[in-house]
Amino acid sequence: MARTTYIAGNWKMNTNKADALALAKALVERLKGKGGTYMIGVPFVYLDAVGAVVKGSNILLGAQDVAATANGAHTGEVSTAMLKDVGVTSVILGHSERRHEIGESDELINKKVRRALADGLEVVLCIGELLAEREAGEAEQVCAFQLSAGLAGVTEAQLKRVTIAYEPVWAIGTGKTATPADAQAIHRFCRDHIAKLYSRQAADDIIIQYGGSMKPENAKELLAQEDIDGGLIGGASLKADSFAAICEA
Ligand code: PGA
Repeated sequence: MARTTYIAGNWKMNTNKADALALAKALVERLKGKGGTYMIGVPFVYLDAVGAVVKGSNILLGAQDVAATANGAHTGEVSTAMLKDVGVTSVILGHSERRHEIGESDELINKKVRRALADGLEVVLCIGELLAEREAGEAEQVCAFQLSAGLAGVTEAQLKRVTIAYEPVWAIGTGKTATPADAQAIHRFCRDHIAKLYSRQAADDIIIQYGGSMKPENAKELLAQEDIDGGLIGGASLKADSFAAICEA
C-alpha cells in the first residue's frame, strides 16, 4: 500500500518567539493545499503561540520531548497533558542529541514512547548509529536494538501512531548525507525488523523518515527510494523556503 509522505521539521533549540511565529506563518502559506503530512517540532516555550498559528492548517504541532511520568513533582519536566493542552499532537522521542548529549537511555526513551502513546499522542521515534558503529559494521545491529528497545510494550494498534526516523548520527548537522542507496538499505532493514517484531502488514504501513543533512538539493533522490517515506529535517527546517522546497520534493 502507498504510504503518505511525512516531512517533519525539528527546530531544536533555535528561533526566538518572533522568528518562530514568522516561520510558522510562512509555512502555513507555503504548504496550504499540499498533500502529505507535515509537522514542526517547536521549542516548548513557543508551542502555545505557534499552535495558534498552525491551528486549522495541514501542519501538525510537535514537541521535541516529553516527560515519561504524569503530572506532579517532576521539576523541569513537561507532561503529555500539558502538551495536549496547547494543541500538540506529535512528539519527537529518542533523538540522538538527547541520547548522546543528555544521556537518555533506551529504557527511558521506551517509557516516554509508551507514555505518549497511552496518552494519545503520535510519536516520531528516532534511531541511528554513530560513525564508529557504522565503521565497525554495526549499523544494522544498533538500529535493530534501538527499535526493539524503543518499541518494547507498544502494541500493533499503537504502532499505527508511530513513525520511525532513521538518522545516522554522523550525518546530523554535518552536511554529510548517507547515499540514497545506503539509506535505502538500512530503511529496508528497519522495515524488515518491524515485520519481525509485529507483522508484515505493520512493516508495510509504518512510515520511516530519513534524517541527517536533508536539504532541497538531496531530498528528491532520498525520497525517491522505496523505503524512505519522508524526512526529519533539522537545519533546513529553519527557513520556510528550504523546508517548503523539501516538502515539494
Ligand atoms: P539536520 O538535523 O537536518 O540539521 O542534520 C536532523 C535532525 O537532527 O533531526
